[in-house]
Amino acid sequence: MVAAQEALAAGVGASMLRKGGNAVDAAVATCFALAVTLPQAGNLGGGGFLVLWLPQAEAKHPLVPAVSIGRGQAVALNFRETAPLAVRPELFLQADGSVDRAKATRSLLSTGVPGTVAGLTLAQARYGRLPLKDVMAPAIQLAERGFPVGVDLAASLASAAPLLKADPSSRRQFFKAGGVPYRPGEILRQGDLARSLRRIAGQGAPGFYAGPVARALEGLMVQRGGLIRSADLAAYRARWQAPLHGRFRGYPVVTMPPPSGGGITLLQLLNVLEPLKLDATGANSAATIHRLVEAMNLAYRDRNRLLGDPDHVAMPLEQLQSQAYATLQRSRLDLNRHRPAAQLEADPTALGGGSNTTHVSVADRQGGLVAVTTTLNGAYGNGISVPGAGFLLNNELDDFSLKPGSANGYGLVQGAVNAIAPGRRPLSSMTPTLVFRPSGEPLLATGSPGGSRIITTVLQVLLNRLVFGLNLASSVAAPRIHSQLWPDQISIEEGLSPDTRRLLEAMGHKLVTVPAMGSANSVEVLPAKGVPVGPGVVSRPTLSGGSLGVADPRRRDAAAVAEQP
Ligand code: DON
Repeated sequence: MVAAQEALAAGVGASMLRKGGNAVDAAVATCFALAVTLPQAGNLGGGGFLVLWLPQAEAKHPLVPAVSIGRGQAVALNFRETAPLAVRPELFLQADGSVDRAKATRSLLSTGVPGTVAGLTLAQARYGRLPLKDVMAPAIQLAERGFPVGVDLAASLASAAPLLKADPSSRRQFFKAGGVPYRPGEILRQGDLARSLRRIAGQGAPGFYAGPVARALEGLMVQRGGLIRSADLAAYRARWQAPLHGRFRGYPVVTMPPPSGGGITLLQLLNVLEPLKLDATGANSAATIHRLVEAMNLAYRDRNRLLGDPDHVAMPLEQLQSQAYATLQRSRLDLNRHRPAAQLEADPTALGGGSNTTHVSVADRQGGLVAVTTTLNGAYGNGISVPGAGFLLNNELDDFSLKPGSANGYGLVQGAVNAIAPGRRPLSSMTPTLVFRPSGEPLLATGSPGGSRIITTVLQVLLNRLVFGLNLASSVAAPRIHSQLWPDQISIEEGLSPDTRRLLEAMGHKLVTVPAMGSANSVEVLPAKGVPVGPGVVSRPTLSGGSLGVADPRRRDAAAVAEQP
């Protein structure tokens, strides 16, 4: 079962499972296909995180730090972009000392050394079953022969036209002759991208980090004032890391460690919320939302002040994940009244950001699970494509605190701990996450785009499924809320009752209705007939064996595709 933000790419993943591939083959095939069919977020020129669990026989690898869960092992792969060696913080500042937002998001300066190709090929080589060339063949075909543009992509390309048309290569790649936009159903071919994919399929990561693709990337950087050079590309490595491992109501939760700020913040929130008897207050009630929001605000304060790249800064991860700390944070919650953000921290900002990262969840027949989130940061990254190589470049360096204390594109005000420096990886919110039954058997994989709202999206999917008794489809679809300390407001999706809103306002909250948040494509491994999922959560007896996939209905091109056609 493969759930992804674009249907053709999800189908590509399912076809790998059909061929005898495992969850890793399927996830990697889907990610490469998304680089073709979902150019706003799928990518070769970006980065991401992957968390996987495989049964012992497939998971064992002596060099990879792993966590044992049940009959298998979980590992985490960090293929986050890296700041180029030539980076200096001053490059992003204006004369008055403020961050130049255009440089931070729409220039070649904003591009980190891409990690996606290193990450996907490494994951596949270590844990996949199929040859890389088979796994990449469908993506190459989609790029070469073209594919019918989906409704979401057509709308997205039209709205990104000013950004993309400003770059000659992107204009040629994503628009018809004369800059005319594609309509849904029209065929988009990407010959240059097909050639790059072919090189990677033949040579692995060196097909991207050396040779013609690397030269084209460096050439663009030299010509147009970017920082990445061949030495940066040659030095790039994806890194295995031991995943974070927590437990919520007896369910093991495995998630991404820093430089994701998502995993640790998620575990911290689960720890704080666990004893609060949220099942008694219920899904999306005012009392529940109030508790979530107050806990979120405290957790985001820690995220922004304390987290960064583990290879460069020290972080109190054990403390943040401890029950003692959760107890302390819980004691700071006023269960009846919103605590204004200014009482916690004086640093107002504006919330920004779209929803242009993408998440893929896969379950295979052995219960193997993959959760992988990849991103260019903004939609289409900085909008600049590498001439002749056919892929867009990320603007991930804006995820650093380019000037500690000033907000990034997601309104996150982060500290010196996440300052930009050569070779560092910027703090992320991407939160690919796996949950297991209390017995250790795999249960579900989830994750989401949404910038700073990724963490709260994943939290709510888990609470809906594990606490509120919603099935996976409802858990993903239910209206979401988000709060991140600043701005001092609850962002809400449509669908909260007027009654709930009034009660929250009476507790001192400001509510702002926002466009749909996140795209939490998720999968669930179903237990054998009649086996309870865990305390209080019983899967329907008609749905036993195999797996369920849920494409987040917030995106029109998304799909969950089963291995069985
Ligand atoms: O890594 C991060 O946290 C961001 N670059 C993710 C960006 C994202 O989700 C875009 N969509 N809103």
